[in-house]
Amino acid sequence: MQKQMIQNLQDKLLLWYDKNGRKNLPWRNLESKDCDERLKDIDRAYGVYISEIMLQQTQVKSVLEKFYFPFLQKFPTLQSLAKANEDELLKAWQGLGYYTRARNLKKAALECVDKFEGKLPKKLDELKNLSGIGTYTAGAIACFAYDQKVSFVDGNIRRVLSRLFALENPKMSELERKAKELLNLADAFNHNQALLDIGALICVSKNAKCGICPLYDFCQGKFNTELYPGIKKTSYENANLSLFVFEWDKKFAIQKSQDKLYKGMYNFPFFKKEEGEIFKNMKLLGEFKHHYTKYKLNIKVYHQILKEENKNYQFKS
Ligand code: ADE
Repeated sequence: MQKQMIQNLQDKLLLWYDKNGRKNLPWRNLESKDCDERLKDIDRAYGVYISEIMLQQTQVKSVLEKFYFPFLQKFPTLQSLAKANEDELLKAWQGLGYYTRARNLKKAALECVDKFEGKLPKKLDELKNLSGIGTYTAGAIACFAYDQKVSFVDGNIRRVLSRLFALENPKMSELERKAKELLNLADAFNHNQALLDIGALICVSKNAKCGICPLYDFCQGKFNTELYPGIKKTSYENANLSLFVFEWDKKFAIQKSQDKLYKGMYNFPFFKKEEGEIFKNMKLLGEFKHHYTKYKLNIKVYHQILKEENKNYQFKS
């Protein structure tokens, strides 16, 4: 795109953002005069970091209404996160799913305490080396927490750029180049937040609202939005689980999962079915399918009332 055109695009984008953007999102106003009262003691980089990790796989509405404030109340600093007890951390993360994110938060916090005096580093490379922080999140923290003039591409920006440049199956490196080319060096913070908002509010996967898009005049994909980007195949893993409801004295056995699946979380004891079928004497309560992250689970639920001598599980009412 030519320089002049890029500048027009940047101006239109910022104008749109000023009128229509989600400027009130609490993580966009940390340490500012518009900061939410509940977050006034939260370090900007830390608050941005937590928001970006939560928003990786969870909708803004849900993060905003259910998770962001309670989490920061419980873990208000990187230090408190570094010291967190894993069970408590997973409990605070309960409902957000993708629990590796929570475990990585603690790991990264410890890394920051160890190497960066308990603060999130500013350099992109150092951010990227922290557990759970990839290229996108490192860029987002650098820009949204430290006002650096950097561009980045997440799922939403990927869609916006693929359509803007009519790219069917773009490589990440190509999109990163495009994002860099478009970056508004005079206001990277609002430029990037605006792109995220265009992706979330206008340039949505189905039924894109091109008629009200500030990028309409520049967009090469607007008449065929469904072509850009092409469908990315998700690879699923099928698993058959046998799950056991062991009952004793009206209490049920639960167990902390050691398996990759539900790792560290309390659940009824379960086995991947291939591990041996030893449940012939148990009552089959039923069977159901459940979709969880990349897993497609088919779960058989067995019930067994335990005898005194078998009750070597930890029981909870
Ligand atoms: N998704 C990822 N980062 C975001 C942000 N800063 N605001 C809204 N949605 C986001």
